[in-house]
Amino acid sequence: HSLWLIVPAAGQGKRMGADKPKQYLSLGEKPILAHTLTRLHQAFPAAHLVLCLDSDDRWFNPKWVPFSQWQRVSGGAERMDSVLNALNAINAQENDMVMVHDVARPCITASDLLTLYHVAQQHPSGALLAMPVADTMKRASAEQLSTATESRDRLWHALTPQSFRYALLLRALEYASANHNVVTDEASAVEALGQAPKLVSGRRDNLKITHPDDLALAAAIMASQVA
Ligand code: C5P
Repeated sequence: HSLWLIVPAAGQGKRMGADKPKQYLSLGEKPILAHTLTRLHQAFPAAHLVLCLDSDDRWFNPKWVPFSQWQRVSGGAERMDSVLNALNAINAQENDMVMVHDVARPCITASDLLTLYHVAQQHPSGALLAMPVADTMKRASAEQLSTATESRDRLWHALTPQSFRYALLLRALEYASANHNVVTDEASAVEALGQAPKLVSGRRDNLKITHPDDLALAAAIMASQVA
């Protein structure tokens, strides 16, 4: 079966407070988007890439795409709409694997990618990279007072990539969309169908670049990984 890599990259990344979307900020000699695509290509050189970009995107350059098979689709209002646009644009078979990875996670490693792919192939409900919560978790009031402590037992952070068979993911996101349920990852949409994707313990350095401080952190992580 074919592997389809969907990379939602249509966000504005407003929390970065930069003059352009965060995926175009430089990390060393190339933008975050180029790093993320390079890492994906190293693990899956024969995959088909679907890149979700804002229709008004002024920064994208196709020279950053290392894949020979790839296509561009328009982003939607929410991340899930961007991913749904990608699913609707491709000519995939029901049992093809789809892997969705945020453009904002350039520190993804080939070993995490290959492990996730392997596990997702063995679980009909799919799989996602995740990591167990290490900190004590607080529930806040509207006034930002700590009103309760949530058990961290069996609590995980959801990362990307997340990987599912094409037919399941399409059904899940169509269901979420029809119910006006804005999900922030694919696994939430699959769970709403009553299915339970497998959590795959991923590296703790699979950082999502969100705030300005994260850029230097990502650069340090990437340097440590190639060393
Ligand atoms: O902003 P945040 O980091 O949570 O976005 C997660 C991912 O979803 C990013 O890769 C972003 O570019 C993408 N996105 C998208 N379409 C949207 C909103 C976000 O492709 N409408």
